[in-house]
Amino acid sequence: MTLPEHIDLSSGWPNPALLPANLLRTSATEALSNPSVKDTALHYGADEGYDSLRTHIAEWLSTFYQPCAPVTAPRVCITGGASQNLACVLQVFTDPIYTRNVWMVAPTYFLAARILDDAGFAGRLRGIPEDDEGIDLEFLEKGLQAAEATAQQDGNTHPVGHDPRVDVTVKLKPARPWRKIYKHVIYAVPTFANPSGKIMSLRRREGLVRIARRYDALILTDDVYDFLQWSPTPGGPFPDRACVPRIVDVDRYLDGGPVDEWGHAISNGSFSKLIGPGVRTGWAEASDKLVYGLSQTGSSRSGGAPSHLTAAIIDQLFPTGITAHLQNQLIPSYASQYHTLVSAIHEYLVPLGVTVYPPGAVSGGYFIWLKLPEGLHASQVAEQAQEAKVRVASGVAFQVPDDPSDTPAVFGDHIRLCFAWESSRHLTEGVRRLARVLERMKNGTVTRTQ
Ligand SMILES: Cc1ncc(COP(=O)(O)O)c(C=O)c1O
Repeated sequence: MTLPEHIDLSSGWPNPALLPANLLRTSATEALSNPSVKDTALHYGADEGYDSLRTHIAEWLSTFYQPCAPVTAPRVCITGGASQNLACVLQVFTDPIYTRNVWMVAPTYFLAARILDDAGFAGRLRGIPEDDEGIDLEFLEKGLQAAEATAQQDGNTHPVGHDPRVDVTVKLKPARPWRKIYKHVIYAVPTFANPSGKIMSLRRREGLVRIARRYDALILTDDVYDFLQWSPTPGGPFPDRACVPRIVDVDRYLDGGPVDEWGHAISNGSFSKLIGPGVRTGWAEASDKLVYGLSQTGSSRSGGAPSHLTAAIIDQLFPTGITAHLQNQLIPSYASQYHTLVSAIHEYLVPLGVTVYPPGAVSGGYFIWLKLPEGLHASQVAEQAQEAKVRVASGVAFQVPDDPSDTPAVFGDHIRLCFAWESSRHLTEGVRRLARVLERMKNGTVTRTQ
């Protein structure tokens, strides 16, 4: 077998060979052949989404996350995937004037930034650093305090980055019974983060919920990689329970449970990484009240939740098909690709001074985040790698745009590698090519930063 001319370790996409076309073909035939399914699925649907899938997802999440009480269908609504749903959450629960800032764990999933920009938050995104345990709570709380202090000043309040002519005590959006406007939004990918791959510890998750309650913040988490987990040791077992409760689970039990019927957390789930991005179907989980409010987004009120037919097709995979696909196909393949990439990194990159973060008790997700040897800049590495026919993602792409902090984190000393897209053989060759680039850059035979 010949090697491909270009090897892509940059794109966060699933390997096409792992997309379950046959499974979906059978499910689609089943859904479209059964009159009781097809007549519903081809029509306008409920605002909350395809009912049977909501019930199935609720049962599936209960088994996987083992929350303090089972997830029930009213806590779940069907979405068009994590990105689409982030936009809907912002439409219903934030106000471009009253909501002060969006706090993003940095490095961050950069494509969320455009969605926040569309919702009116340009210039008001703030990066929160993370360490090995996840989000820096002290930094976040100081930032929230400063934003609130500014908001108290001079009566004509304006948080950092906000137009000073605007009075943020006024809400642009009128009050509605299904809507609560939060003062702040906190965005995180707490498990197998994109790009850092880190898992936020339970105590940080609990601390974050307490802060969100104190400062009237809604925590939105993209929990899109949680199901993709395996042992950090090659050949080890594949756990079938989540390694840590989601933040939405923490909000259910912490200090006696949610402080009001809305709660302060919403979990964004997606079938993009579990079935295929083309299905553009996901789910959101939060309190009954928040989920009902989300289902009242104008675009869902007009004809029902997105991805209705696809939701009915995906529903045919429950309860057993989805688990079989994950446990027998996807997870073993990704685990093997992950271990191949890690071993190639240790063999070819670590001797050159690259740092790979030690795995925790469980590994997973799509990405490995690497620190470059001293003096090399990620953008130049990505550029040189492209010339050597291997693509890697520069850490700079994951900075929070226009972060008004004094010293915004830039991540020019990091790169992200994805192990999901390429097959194992190509992953190893890609790392070899990257090693040659780093070696040349270190030796000064190509340009490097001072
Ligand atoms: C953290 C994160 N959120 C959201 C998405 C996109 O999800 P969806 O395809 O469901 O919109 C991705 C995809 O890379 C992601 O990494």
